[in-house]
Amino acid sequence: MGIVIGLDVGTSGTKAVAMDETGRLMASALVEYPLHSPKPGWAEQDPADWRAAALSALSQLAAQVNPADVKGIGLTGQMHGSVFLDAENNVLRNALLWCDQRTAAQCDAITEKVGAARLIEMVSNPALTGFTAPKILWLRDNEPHLYEKVRRVLLPKDYIRWVLTGEYATDVADASGTLLFDVKNRCWHRELLSLLDIDPALLPASFEGPEVTGTLTAGAAAQTGLPAGIPVVAGGGDQAANGVGCGIVRRGVVSASLGTSGVLFAFADTVSTDPEGRVHTFCHSVPGCWHTMGVVLSAAGSLQWFRNQLWTGEWVRAKAEGREVYEDITAAAGTAPAGSEGLLFLPYLTGERTPHKDPFARAAFIGLSLRHTRAHMARAVLEGVAYAMNDSTEIMRGMGVAVDEVRCSGGGARSALWRQIMADVNAAPMVTINVDEGPAYGAAILASVATGMHARVDAACDAIIREVDRVSPDPAAAAGYGRWFREYQAAYRALAPGFRRAAEILG
Ligand code: XUL
Repeated sequence: MGIVIGLDVGTSGTKAVAMDETGRLMASALVEYPLHSPKPGWAEQDPADWRAAALSALSQLAAQVNPADVKGIGLTGQMHGSVFLDAENNVLRNALLWCDQRTAAQCDAITEKVGAARLIEMVSNPALTGFTAPKILWLRDNEPHLYEKVRRVLLPKDYIRWVLTGEYATDVADASGTLLFDVKNRCWHRELLSLLDIDPALLPASFEGPEVTGTLTAGAAAQTGLPAGIPVVAGGGDQAANGVGCGIVRRGVVSASLGTSGVLFAFADTVSTDPEGRVHTFCHSVPGCWHTMGVVLSAAGSLQWFRNQLWTGEWVRAKAEGREVYEDITAAAGTAPAGSEGLLFLPYLTGERTPHKDPFARAAFIGLSLRHTRAHMARAVLEGVAYAMNDSTEIMRGMGVAVDEVRCSGGGARSALWRQIMADVNAAPMVTINVDEGPAYGAAILASVATGMHARVDAACDAIIREVDRVSPDPAAAAGYGRWFREYQAAYRALAPGFRRAAEILG
């Protein structure tokens, strides 16, 4: 039997899955670690935690399957993070994460130096606080004593690739999120690197998703129980890998993942960019293809915040009973009418990426009255996230992207109510598929192609993925939501200057 492993270096933990050539899940393991926020808006993790978690997750898998059957490992992980290594490959400081918001000044400097339109022309995307290039400049500006020691900058999963194989490599999808990659031509952008005075030698070699980048070293084999010499495959940034895992490998089929962040992800066989850079255009893990993507920074993360802060007693009790409380919250939300009787929620708890590109945006409940209960507030959170996702749907439709069917994944997609709200607000059917293992599963599919189990990524997806449930939009609810969506959009426009002033007051 042939088994492939997908390893996802995520934000809350590292997850490993093993599947056979039919896509059957053979084993999985998850090892969690903390996120540190030493200052408001900062988000960091210790790469040593990723390393320990990855080795532990892989050894847990090795104990659940016959290691001799394992033919390869595909990598994926949170995008945009910066691991700074010195000449001896020591990690110089905690990594800055995708959701870190400290780099507004560096983004402004990049945009000013290159020009907003020219930047999008060069790397298909605008400078956003979460991306990697501004993080490199932040280190140069703020911690020059560390910057002068930097010899390599790696993305989170590529640090783990180095741990496993000793190779410095990345994949074109993850590289696209650095702001230093020529997305059109699928290579590092030499001219931009030189304009920003970043040494190209800091960056790893880039590969297509289903290419082999190295093999498991004897040391890593001894620490995991997996066979030395098995190929380690490029894989993809978590969004592209999740796209593969959801079968987003041809036009018209889009995915919506409702994890901590929410992502609307569409396949593209040509490069198309939004001139305002409101959605991202990145290389896909399908060789020679691209994807467009809108990112809502706090999707299920908003519901998690709501659970922790406004459903606290029940949450703590449920935890003691070993139960999750989300079902109770969504059941309560279901008792409030569509539109939450005029209560709107803006889900900008950590600023917002699509469409606002605004690190200063903040969340808000708008329209509270004496009538409103916690149930209304719960529903408003689900609706607010659906509106935020619909911002991306609208932009993509405007770019000519067909949104015929949306495949829902992530923790939030387990709620039938949230899927219905998503269908009504986004005016598209929400489909669930037979697997919801997230990016790790897509990375395993990429490994299955690299190791010859399947001929191509789309063929592998066709063989493995099938629809299990479909929720269609309800025309009456969709019409009602259409009006509230415009109010939702207007609310941000009205509040945005205040968010900026509040940030100034807070210093
Ligand atoms: C994608 C993004 C997030 C992270 C964390 O652009 O920022 O999805 O990859 O999962």
